[in-house]
Amino acid sequence: MIDNEKVINEIGTPAYVYDVAAIEERIKYLREKLGASILYAVKANSFIVKEIEEEIDGYEICSKGEFDICNSLNVNRGKMVISGVHKDRPSIEEMMEKYDDIYKYTIESVNQWKLLTDVAKKYGRKIRTLIRLTSGNQFGVSPEDLKYIIAHNDESVIKIVGIEYFSGTQKHSIKKINKEADKLIDLIDSLREEFDFKVEEIEYGPGLPVFYYQGEEFDEEAFLDEVRLALDRIKEKGVKLSLEVGRSLVAKAGRYYSSVVDMKCNKNGNFIILDGGINHLVYYGGTLGMRIPHFQVIRVSEEKADGLNTFAPDEPVVGTEDENGLITYNLHGSLCTVNDILVKNINSKRLKIGDVFVFENVGAYSSTEGISLFLSRDLPKIALYQKDGSIKVVRDVIKTSDINIPRY
Ligand SMILES: Cc1ncc(COP(=O)(O)O)c(C=O)c1O
Repeated sequence: MIDNEKVINEIGTPAYVYDVAAIEERIKYLREKLGASILYAVKANSFIVKEIEEEIDGYEICSKGEFDICNSLNVNRGKMVISGVHKDRPSIEEMMEKYDDIYKYTIESVNQWKLLTDVAKKYGRKIRTLIRLTSGNQFGVSPEDLKYIIAHNDESVIKIVGIEYFSGTQKHSIKKINKEADKLIDLIDSLREEFDFKVEEIEYGPGLPVFYYQGEEFDEEAFLDEVRLALDRIKEKGVKLSLEVGRSLVAKAGRYYSSVVDMKCNKNGNFIILDGGINHLVYYGGTLGMRIPHFQVIRVSEEKADGLNTFAPDEPVVGTEDENGLITYNLHGSLCTVNDILVKNINSKRLKIGDVFVFENVGAYSSTEGISLFLSRDLPKIALYQKDGSIKVVRDVIKTSDINIPRY
């Protein structure tokens, strides 16, 4: 369990902190509960890939950049599934020329199949592949293209071991998951009947949901029990089942820390300015701060407030307490846009400059989905809260002005 005071004292704000032990526990829990191997979708958070290497069954890698991150950390290539809608020749050549121990590649189009075949031949490799089935968008191939590839594949170069299927994130309808299981089962059957092709492996992304906002109720255990029943039906077809999971594996293990740096009021309300903003903090489905995520406020020592919490007797104060002693505030970030609203209308005891907001459930996607280059604000530190309770900074502050500066 992350000790907030320790984080604030040791690394300050703004910062993200990820709880390694919580992620490991979550991998074990999902594997046990769902009865399938768990692959980690690296896009959700690349900062924890090395920490989970022992526990995780594999990694779903969707770009050359993600491959380079994992490879430079010496992640076991025997756990890597190289996926992604755009596979370019130089990247695939580099991977195949240098390494013959990458676990699998996915095929997302007829052209990717041709590219993989060509490059594998060139370097004398025999590679294992999954064909990605589309869910009707730009990802994966149609059932017709999938069958074409199976019928024309050169097995001496490309071993097709099965199907990958991911149709979207934040799925909480068991009906939808059952429909997807039916679709996969039908495909397994039809490939056997039409081509005598045995699907050995299914890699399925169930898009397990995370509930980010206050007031939401969800019985996750009951939901996962239902998901298990759908997955068991797929497994009855004699396939090895792996689940690609991102959000549900890491979201709850991350916190984002941001300090109150200024406050003011006008006829439209009380405004708190934090040292972060929508450049750092993104919650799925959270638009213009209308929904309130889970957070805590930590009061730090007055010295850090630089004297700003001391007022002259006639100085106007921000906000008036209601009968419960609470003030309504809007939380804003440090960007030059009226859209930089983190949360609207929270009721809180009187806030002070230096107070630290600890936003929960930010372990997945948050550190990469924000508009982080806007206004040349610094990127926050990223730290791991390790199993022994120590905090390890794995990325220091990055000045985005270095990226946004023209170089003559
Ligand atoms: C192919 C693929 N697999 C898995 C995931 C992870 O999804 P989630 O974070 O909902 O578990 C994604 C997310 O975009 C994806 O594109």
